[in-house]
Amino acid sequence: MEKQNLLEIRNLKKYFSTPRGELHAVDNVSFDIERGKTIGVVGESGCGKSTLGKTLMRLHDPTSGEVRYKGEDIASMPLSVFKKKYRADIQMIFQDPYASLDPRMNVIQLIEEPVRVNSKDLGKEEIRKKAREMMELVGLAKRLENSYPHELDGGRRQRIGIARALSLNPEFIVCDEPVSALDVSIQAQILNLLQDLQRERGLTYLFITHDMSVVRHISDDIAVMYLGQLIEKCPAGEIFKNTIHPYSRALLSAIPIPNVHEKRERMVLKGELTSPIDPKKCCRFAARCPYATDQCLETEPALREMRPGHFVACHGAEKFLS
Ligand SMILES: Nc1ncnc2c1ncn2[C@@H]1O[C@H](COP(=O)(O)OP(=O)(O)OP(=O)(O)O)[C@@H](O)[C@H]1O
Ligand SMILES: [Mg+2]
Repeated sequence: MEKQNLLEIRNLKKYFSTPRGELHAVDNVSFDIERGKTIGVVGESGCGKSTLGKTLMRLHDPTSGEVRYKGEDIASMPLSVFKKKYRADIQMIFQDPYASLDPRMNVIQLIEEPVRVNSKDLGKEEIRKKAREMMELVGLAKRLENSYPHELDGGRRQRIGIARALSLNPEFIVCDEPVSALDVSIQAQILNLLQDLQRERGLTYLFITHDMSVVRHISDDIAVMYLGQLIEKCPAGEIFKNTIHPYSRALLSAIPIPNVHEKRERMVLKGELTSPIDPKKCCRFAARCPYATDQCLETEPALREMRPGHFVACHGAEKFLS
C-alpha cells in the first residue's frame, strides 16, 4: 500500500511565558506521521514530549507553525472550528487515568460520557449500547459496569481511559506514557490491546514514553527529543542498530537490550543541562556532548536526512554513521 501521511508537522513551536523568560517547550519541530503507524517519542523528563502531544491536539494553542491533518492546518484554525470538525478524530490517552476520571462516576457512566457529549442525537439506549460495545472491545467485563475507579486496578482504569478515547471513533491517538504507572505484567496486556486495536481500526499513534523497551516493542518510527527539539527520527529498527546522534546513543546505552549494539559501552552524560528558557542559537546538547566543536557552540544544527528516512540534527553526524 502506498505511504500516506496522516499528519505533517512543520516548524511547530509552543512557548510558555514564565517570570524568567520564554520557555521553549517545543521549538521548531517538523516531522510526518504515517497513517496506521506508531511513532514513538522519547527523551528525558521535561524535553517537551507531553507539550508536543497536547499542542498537536489543541489542548495547548501553538505559538506558531503548522499541523496539517489530512492536509488541513489544524494549528491555526479557530479552536471552535477545530473542536467541531476534529475533536472526535484526535484523542489522547493519559498516563494516569485515575486523575482524568471523575471518581463519582461508575464505569458505564464514565464510558458513556464522551459519547453523550459528542453525539447529541443519540438516545439513552443507543448510548448505553455503544458504551457496552466499548467495554467489550477493551476487555472490561460486564460485571464491572457499576464499579467505581477506586475499586479497580491500574490496568482496568487504563482500559476505561482507552474505551473513552475510542468511543468517538478517532483516527489519531496521542498516548502519553499510557503504561508507565502500571505493573510490568499489566503493561504488556495494555500494549497488546493498543496494538490489536490499531490493527483492527487502522489507528495512528503518537506514543510517548521514557521506556526504551516499550518504544521498541510498539513503534514503527522513533523520534528523539532534546530540550524542545527533534534531534533524530528514523525507522524503529534503525535506532537500535544505527543510532547517529550522540544524545540518542547515550539514551540508548542506558538501557539493557540484548542483541543490539553488541559492543555497546555505557555512555554517561556529563555537563549541565541547558535551560529551555530563552535558549541560545547553538546545539542544545553541546554543553553535554563529548564531541562538541566550536561550530556546535555557535550554530544550531538543522535536521538532515543522513540515510533514507533517517533524520539527524547534529553537525558531526557524518562521524557517527556506521
Ligand atoms: N503549562 C505550562 N506552563 C509553563 N511551563 C510548562 C507548562 N507545561 C510544561 N511546561 C514546561 O515545558 C517543558 C516541557 O514539559 P513537558 O511536560 O512537555 O515535558 P515531558 O517531556 O512530557 O516530561 P515528562 O517526561 O516529565 O512527562 C518543561 O520545562 C516544563 O516545565
Ligand atoms: Mg510528559
